Amino acid sequence: AAAPADWDKPLAGKVALVTGAARGIGATIAEVLSRDGAHVIAADIPAAGEALSEVANKVGGTALPLDVTAPDAGAKIAELVKSRHSGLDIVVNNAGITRDKLLANMDEGKWNSVMAVNLKAPKQLVDDLLAAGALNEGGSVVDVSSIAGIAGNRGQTNYGATKAGVIGIVDAYTPVLAKKNITINAVAPGFIETAMTAAIPLATRQAGRLMNSLQQGGQTVDVAETIAYFAAPASAAVTGNVVRVCGQSLL
Ligand code: NAI
Repeated sequence: AAAPADWDKPLAGKVALVTGAARGIGATIAEVLSRDGAHVIAADIPAAGEALSEVANKVGGTALPLDVTAPDAGAKIAELVKSRHSGLDIVVNNAGITRDKLLANMDEGKWNSVMAVNLKAPKQLVDDLLAAGALNEGGSVVDVSSIAGIAGNRGQTNYGATKAGVIGIVDAYTPVLAKKNITINAVAPGFIETAMTAAIPLATRQAGRLMNSLQQGGQTVDVAETIAYFAAPASAAVTGNVVRVCGQSLL
């Protein structure tokens, strides 16, 4: 692929979808992609409300209240990008949830909800966008996995299974998307300081920080910058990879 005309704005002219963009890692991804020149469509559940509008305003993008598990989620995005832009260049499947419980207490509701958001939706979204002809040639898909999908994590059987599944999706879709010159990669963050991890007990949080080979909690920007690389022309020939960010499989 050609080098960007403007090295300060490698994503100039690109349209990027970021799911789960109202806070945490997703909000920082929106900021970093916008800094690099992309128009960002920031999507999050309708309940995210003002927080989502604030992120979209901050990055000069578009707020899209959207539950990624809704059957018409892909169709809604396709309609937006086809009517207001000339398709979508970058898809960041970042929306994710935890419903942690030790295996003996892992009820079906907790299992299914995590499967729906973390595993089914990222695949379905790509399928629906492709079917609608909304994903541009030369584009990139980046899925957010987790170290828990590589090494497992106590109390997170449902979560770890979905995050391992995301890596399987990347493997399966690499040749499919390559036909359209679209790359697909995953990032697997270790412990990152966000509202999601603030909810875990202190001792577990401290253990999470120590799992990081850098011996500290990661910041959202660490993940976002890696995603920006996968979205940029610099990585046009880089596909089918999983990159650990702020973590190591020490479990
Ligand atoms: P967070 O909980 O702070 O943010 C997640 C966002 O996703 C929220 O704004 C939430 O409303 C949104 N979301 C949830 N369900 C949704 C749905 N059905 N449709 C649309 N949006 C939805 O979480 P955080 O920490 O920013 O995590 C972002 C991603 O990174 C997740 O996929 C998570 O599994 C992954 N991750 C996080 C790590 C961490 O240490 N924080 C480590 C490894 C992976």
